[in-house]
Amino acid sequence: MNQMRQQITEKLGGRQETLRQLYFTEKAGEYVRALSSRLGRKPTCCVTTFGCQMNARDSEKLSGILERAGYELTDDEGADFVIYNTCTVRDNANQRVYGRLGHLGSLKKKNPDKRVALCGCMMQEPSVIEKIRKSYGFVDLIFGTHNIYKFAELLVLMFESDQTVIDIWEETDQIVEELPAERKYSFKSGINIMFGCNNFCSYCIVPYVRGRERSRNPEDIVREIEALARDGVVEVMLLGQNVNSYGKNLDSPMSFAQLLLAIEKIEGIQRIRFMTSHPKDLSDELIEVMKNSKKICRHLHLPLQSGSTRILERMNRRYTKEQYLSLVDKIRNRIPDISITTDIIVGFPGETPEDVDETIDVVRRVKFDNAFTFIYSRRTGTPAAAMEQVAPETVREGFDRLLKAVQDTAKERAALLNGQVLDALAEEVNEQDPSMLNGRLSNNMIVHFKGGRELVGRILPVRLTQCCGFYYTGELAGKEHE
Ligand code: SAH
Ligand code: SF4
Ligand code: F3S
Repeated sequence: MNQMRQQITEKLGGRQETLRQLYFTEKAGEYVRALSSRLGRKPTCCVTTFGCQMNARDSEKLSGILERAGYELTDDEGADFVIYNTCTVRDNANQRVYGRLGHLGSLKKKNPDKRVALCGCMMQEPSVIEKIRKSYGFVDLIFGTHNIYKFAELLVLMFESDQTVIDIWEETDQIVEELPAERKYSFKSGINIMFGCNNFCSYCIVPYVRGRERSRNPEDIVREIEALARDGVVEVMLLGQNVNSYGKNLDSPMSFAQLLLAIEKIEGIQRIRFMTSHPKDLSDELIEVMKNSKKICRHLHLPLQSGSTRILERMNRRYTKEQYLSLVDKIRNRIPDISITTDIIVGFPGETPEDVDETIDVVRRVKFDNAFTFIYSRRTGTPAAAMEQVAPETVREGFDRLLKAVQDTAKERAALLNGQVLDALAEEVNEQDPSMLNGRLSNNMIVHFKGGRELVGRILPVRLTQCCGFYYTGELAGKEHE
C-alpha cells in the first residue's frame, strides 16, 4: 500500500513538473515574441549536439521547447539563440567545444541580441564551469544533465538576468515525462528507457556526469512509443548506457527482454533497435526474444573494450576474454544473420603490445561487422586517471595495428551480403547524388539505391549489387512491404 502511495505521489510530482515547465515555455514565448517584434522577424535558434544518441535525444527535447516558445530552428550558428549540448567522454569532445565557443563569442559581439547556452555532460565537471566563467564570460546560460527538464524555466531566468545563469545539480531522481520534442526524422526516433550508469568502468566518466541508473516505467515508455507510432514513426531506438540491466530497480522489476516483448506489440512500429548492451548482463532470455522477433533488428552493439582479460579486469568490465567469445558464439549460433559491432579502447593504462595482440585475436575470431576504435583518454576523477599511462608512440602503434584488423574483418563480413535482397529503411536523399537514397538495413549497414524523395521513411526491399567496403550500392527489388 505504502509503495503504491509513493508511486502515485511520484507520478503526480512528475505531472506537476510537466505542467510547470509548459507554463514556463509559454512565458519564454512572451520574451521571444518581444524580441521578434524588435527584430521584425521570427528569431532563430540552433541546437548543436556533441556525443552519443542520448544527447541527440535530449537535443530533440531542447528543440521541441524552443520551437514551442516561438523560435525558428536552423543549423546555422549565426542564430539568435545557440545552445551546445556537450559530451565529455573523451578529451577531444571537450576541445571541440572550446574551439567552437571562441567563434560563437565573436558572432555575439556582432549581434548583441544573441544568446549562448551550454548544457550536457561536460557541464557536470566543476573544472569546466570554472574555465567557462574565466575565459568565456559571454555565455548566458549553463546547466547540466540532471535538470535538462527545467530548460524552459532556465530560459525565462536567462531572459530576466543580465548575468550568466548557472544551474548544475549533482543528482536527481526525477524523470519528467511528456515534454514536447522536435524529432530530427519523422519516421524514426530514439527513446530513453533509462538514465545514468552504475557500472563504473575505471576509464569512464559517464557515471559521474549522468548519475545513478534509473529506469523509466514500462507504461510510460509504451505510451510514448504508441504516440510516436500514431505520428508516423516506424523505427524506434531504445536508449540507455546499459539496456541489459533495464528494469532491475523498478518497483515492480521487469527484464529488458520483457520490455521488448511489450514494445513488439505496438502497432505501426516495424523496427526496434537498442543501445548499448553490456556483455556481462546479456541474458539468454534476450537472445531468445531477439531470435523470435519479427521487429527487433538483426544488430547487436556489444562493446568489447579490450580482448585482454588482464586489462578487462583493470577496466572493471567484469567479464573475461573467454566469456566474451563464448557469449558471441552463443548469439551467432542462435541468430546466424545477426551483425555484431563493438567499441574498443587502445592505450588503457598498463596495456602492452601483447594485450593489443589479445584484442586483435578477439577481432579476428569474432569478425565484427564494424568496430569503433578509440584511443584511451584520461578523464579526471576516474580510477584509471591515477594509473600509470602508456607512452603515446606505443598507443599509436597498437591503434594502427588494431584498426587494420578491424577493417579487414568488417570488409570480409560485408562482402557476404552481396546479391541478397534485404529490407532497407529509406532514410534520406543522398547528398552527393540526389537521384539516390540512403537506406539502412536491419543489420545497420547503409545501402545507396536509386529512388525518389517520396520513398523516404518507407521500408523497401533492395538488392545489394555492389559492396563498397563498409556500405553497399543496390537497387529496388520488387514490390515494397506495406
Ligand atoms: N555505456 C556504453 C558506452 C558509453 S561511452 C557501454 O558501456 O558500452 C561509448 C564508448 O566510448 C565506450 O564504449 C568506450 O569504448 C569509449 N570510452 C569511454 N570512456 C573512454 C575513455 N576515457 N577513453 C577512450 N574511450 C572511452
Ligand atoms: Fe561507461 Fe562502463 Fe557505464 Fe558504459 S557501462 S557508460 S563504459 S561506465
Ligand atoms: Fe558523451 Fe555524455 Fe553521451 S559524456 S557519450 S554525451 S552520456
